[in-house]
Amino acid sequence: MSITEQIQNIRIEFNSESSNFKSKNSGLEKIRIKYLGRKGLVAQLFQLMDSLDKNDRPKAGQMLNSLKIELSEKINNLEKSEKQIFLNPKEDYTLPGDPITSGNIHPLTLLLEEIKSIFIRLGFSIAYSDEIDTDFYNFEALNIPTHHPARDMQDTFYISEDILLRTHTSNTQIHYMEKNKPPIRIIAPGRVFRNEDISVRSYCLFHQIEGLYVDSGVTFSQLKGTLDFFAKELFSKDVKTRFRPSYFPFTEPSAEMDVSCMFCSGNGCKICKNSGWIEILGCGMVDPEVFHCINYDTEKWTGYAFGMGIERMAMLKYGIEDIRLFYSGDVRFLKQFK
Ligand code: DAH
Repeated sequence: MSITEQIQNIRIEFNSESSNFKSKNSGLEKIRIKYLGRKGLVAQLFQLMDSLDKNDRPKAGQMLNSLKIELSEKINNLEKSEKQIFLNPKEDYTLPGDPITSGNIHPLTLLLEEIKSIFIRLGFSIAYSDEIDTDFYNFEALNIPTHHPARDMQDTFYISEDILLRTHTSNTQIHYMEKNKPPIRIIAPGRVFRNEDISVRSYCLFHQIEGLYVDSGVTFSQLKGTLDFFAKELFSKDVKTRFRPSYFPFTEPSAEMDVSCMFCSGNGCKICKNSGWIEILGCGMVDPEVFHCINYDTEKWTGYAFGMGIERMAMLKYGIEDIRLFYSGDVRFLKQFK
């Protein structure tokens, strides 16, 4: 490599190294030694002079000298700017730094993960379906025909005559059974929508988890056992459960499950309205009408289903009194759930 090329290489190397130069603890002295020190890169090139052709020496000498001047000027400038940074009176480097704020998981997500993990341990898998659906999946196939009084239980947002925002996660039951054959053991979490007045207790959207188990010989006592285990895992081992007869069009028989009030241990308080019990979910044995709709053989298959509101469970578990807080985006509220 000619001496001219070597000079150029050193210049390139220096420029790239000095452009990365950061003010604090820069090691600027190191750069000076590397290039301009007694045994530095520039000095090494000066030593090569003797080996050059006599005629080439003056030009090479000139080039080397101007390289040396150029580098030492640049280093001096860097040094000046370094001093300026440290002496900038506008900055007070002794002040403590800004705190680093970290986000945390939303309480609904937190609870949802906990509920999912309980059911996954029991062998359930997770299924999802769309929030925008047709009347068929949300009502018709669940044994709720047009003009059925049960439609009044759920005020629906319609997008068109046939298309709506689902009012419950029960629609996932139909979608899943349409695509899969038994045995089926799923939970289906998701958002649901109802045209309700917004208040402390109700909101126009909320979350549910649906459960569905279909196999041969599924019994109501299996349903009870599963949900009792679930309540004890989620709330506490001391929680008691009871099943009250109820009505849902897609289950027969149907029931609602109550848990003993976790605020007063069943003794009676404001939250359980002095009954000692709090309702947490609806459930029942899948109505054969539902199986007919998706062409399941009702002689062969039986199943149970259940559905619960996640906000309601979170309010009970964390002692939250206003459902609107979940959607307020208020960091002071959210920060409490680590
Ligand atoms: N879909 C019902 C609701 O939103 C909840 C429900 C009740 C779901 C009973 C079920 C069930 O699967 O068996 O009120």
